[in-house]
Amino acid sequence: MTGQRCIHFKYLPTGMRVLFTSTLIVLGMGYLFAMIHIFASHAGRDGNPALSVDDLIIAYSGSQSDTRLEAALKGPMSKMLPPEEMNEVIAWVRRGAEQKEFESAGIKNILDKRCITCHSGKNPHIPNLSEFSGVEQVVEKDTGMDIFTLVRVSHIHLFGLTFIFYIVSSIFCHSYIRPLWLKCIIIAVPFFAIICDIMSWYLTKIYTPFAWVVLISGAFMGVSFAIQFITSIYQMWLYRPAQAIVDNDGAVS
Ligand code: HEC
Repeated sequence: MTGQRCIHFKYLPTGMRVLFTSTLIVLGMGYLFAMIHIFASHAGRDGNPALSVDDLIIAYSGSQSDTRLEAALKGPMSKMLPPEEMNEVIAWVRRGAEQKEFESAGIKNILDKRCITCHSGKNPHIPNLSEFSGVEQVVEKDTGMDIFTLVRVSHIHLFGLTFIFYIVSSIFCHSYIRPLWLKCIIIAVPFFAIICDIMSWYLTKIYTPFAWVVLISGAFMGVSFAIQFITSIYQMWLYRPAQAIVDNDGAVS
């Protein structure tokens, strides 16, 4: 073999193995907190507490069905007005909630009669429904994360995840895995998964089934991280080097 040789963990100085192990433990904790963050910020958007594809669709492309007004009318505010008036308001929202119809279609009258007692604007914590400008804010379509937010989060993820997987894989390189192609795949997968993941955030806005790609690439990253983490720590401290490593003076490919 020519060029630089990569030495198996067992042939590395103890100090270096301690450095590798400490780094992996802290990164592992980081990964755990990242998972908690994902659950806390995405899970449950669709009403079901588990993290699902529907949660991701709502996060990236918005809720297809309800505006806040419609959700409130069908939910906590449903007792505030008779059903036929509720249907009129919902129909107006679904037609696009146009300002020119707000008064002509009698929507303002309904709100004035049924809602203003509480939604007059006196209480700053609940929407002011006495003017169109207040109503407008609760009939905006939920279009999910806006492009600017996505761009910001994308560059943070692209840099951050590349750093993390670069560090983890440069440690994992010192392990002995046969066949060699398997080792190469374990190293390469997260980098491709990062690209697929981030592209799919945008594509989910256009075609919602791409949320599956977000979920699946996240799973691939997690599996690769776990394999590299466990293999590295195991081979550093507990493993008896295979004969092939001994024969090679500790070098691994
Ligand atoms: C008896 C008082 C009262 C009346 C009448 C009332 N609301 Fe509310 N509304 C509230 C309170 C309190 C909240 C905030 C707590 C909550 O979200 O349940 C609220 C919240 C809302 C919200 C915001 C929900 C969100 O997404 O945060 C909307 C929209 C709304 N009401 C619409 C209406 C409409 C439309 C009517 C008339 C048909 C109406 N409300 C009548 C008390 C009232």
